[in-house]
Amino acid sequence: MHVQERSRILFRFADLLEKHNDEVAALETWDNGKPYEQAANVEIPMVTRLFRYYAGWADKIHGLTVPADGPYHVQTLHEPIGVAGQIVPWNFPLLMYAWKVGPALACGNTIVLKTAEQTPLSAMYVSKLFLEAGLPPGVLNLISGFGPTAGAAICSHMDVDKLAFTGSTNTGKIVLELASKSNLKPVTLELGGKSPIIVCEDADIDLAVENAHSALFFNQGQCCCAGSRTFVHERVYDEFVEKAKARALKRVVGDPFKKGVEQGPQIDGVQFKKILSYIRSGIESGATLESGGDSVGSKGYYIQPTVFSNVQDDMLIAKDEIFGPVQSILKFQTLDEVIRRANASRYGLAAGVFTKNINTANTLTRALKAGTIWINCYIVFDAAIPFGGYKMSGHGREKGIYSLSNYLQVKAVVTPLENPAWL
Ligand code: NAI
Ligand code: MG
Repeated sequence: MHVQERSRILFRFADLLEKHNDEVAALETWDNGKPYEQAANVEIPMVTRLFRYYAGWADKIHGLTVPADGPYHVQTLHEPIGVAGQIVPWNFPLLMYAWKVGPALACGNTIVLKTAEQTPLSAMYVSKLFLEAGLPPGVLNLISGFGPTAGAAICSHMDVDKLAFTGSTNTGKIVLELASKSNLKPVTLELGGKSPIIVCEDADIDLAVENAHSALFFNQGQCCCAGSRTFVHERVYDEFVEKAKARALKRVVGDPFKKGVEQGPQIDGVQFKKILSYIRSGIESGATLESGGDSVGSKGYYIQPTVFSNVQDDMLIAKDEIFGPVQSILKFQTLDEVIRRANASRYGLAAGVFTKNINTANTLTRALKAGTIWINCYIVFDAAIPFGGYKMSGHGREKGIYSLSNYLQVKAVVTPLENPAWL
């Protein structure tokens, strides 16, 4: 298809999505349990923005003319890679769909995408809008199946040319193994995290408290980039803990369709039980429970916003990805010490830094091993900002200009020049 038509379809799709914003948001809340206001005012508009961003790229993807040695005309062609296999999780069902589908279509690929077992609805609904936008049938193929069967089949298939996966680090390992055992398809992995937030002694404490709170509790704590280790300088530690606790106690938990609700239920019983067992482990290992610590009532998978202080690096709650509303606060004394401790994780997805000192910010920015560093803010996302992890948080980057290379082949074309004298 000509690039301009590709771009037009993506723009038309974004317009349709904008028109159906509220229905799609309702499906997302129904499936996932996230607050409707969050889905309708933040997430679905972000999805629309992302498709417009990649619609803008579709007609601007091209190769180079390369000045090589010798009498040759050398150029590169940037071609679609072919069939993209994409597997997404349940925490941001449509946003993860967008991060995968947007760049893949802009680059001219076809897609087989599998939604998570828990959350198939929004992707089904919007994929029909794609047909209305003029995408030819067969270009975008949606499967709602189970991971070990349908997911694994995509990973192993000899006719799938590329894989993009978002989910747990353990499943990421399986995906990579299946790719290596079949046709060596390249794999982009967006996996787990245990992201540090560093609150320095000169930080604006109220700003740091509010950001560290939403960094962890946003989306019921079910974010790969959740700020799940909050390191606070000893001189501001007591003030921070007191304010973090007060903020957590104010958090509004309840029916996600109700106005003003900040936190809905966890995704399912498996996650619910796992989170409660991590909370028990925090208590047993000697961390101080400042707030929460239990489920809410007896109906539904609601968990109290939980804050632990006095957390030590070797506790399970400081090492494992909990994926729930459990904030861990740790104390530090020096910058060198906190850099070492923040980096002592098998993950490296994101980090937050709160300071008013430009030198401290620059030092931390360069020393921290993470794919995103947020300075005096957290969870700022845009279609143009690349996202991905160091270490066991994954391979490659999604969003922005960086995601294009995930879905393109580079072909070098070499032609002898007939009359080298003109070189
Ligand atoms: P998961 O990684 O198993 O599931 C994510 C996706 O992978 C789903 O679409 C699933 O169907 C698929 N999948 C599962 N097994 C597969 C296989 N053998 N081959 C191919 N695809 C497969 O994550 P799960 O079990 O839902 O959650 C477990 C933990 O993973 C969570 O507690 C959390 O810590 C982490 N997680 C991280 C996410 C992230 O955004 N990085 C998102 C979801 C979960
Ligand atoms: Mg799993």
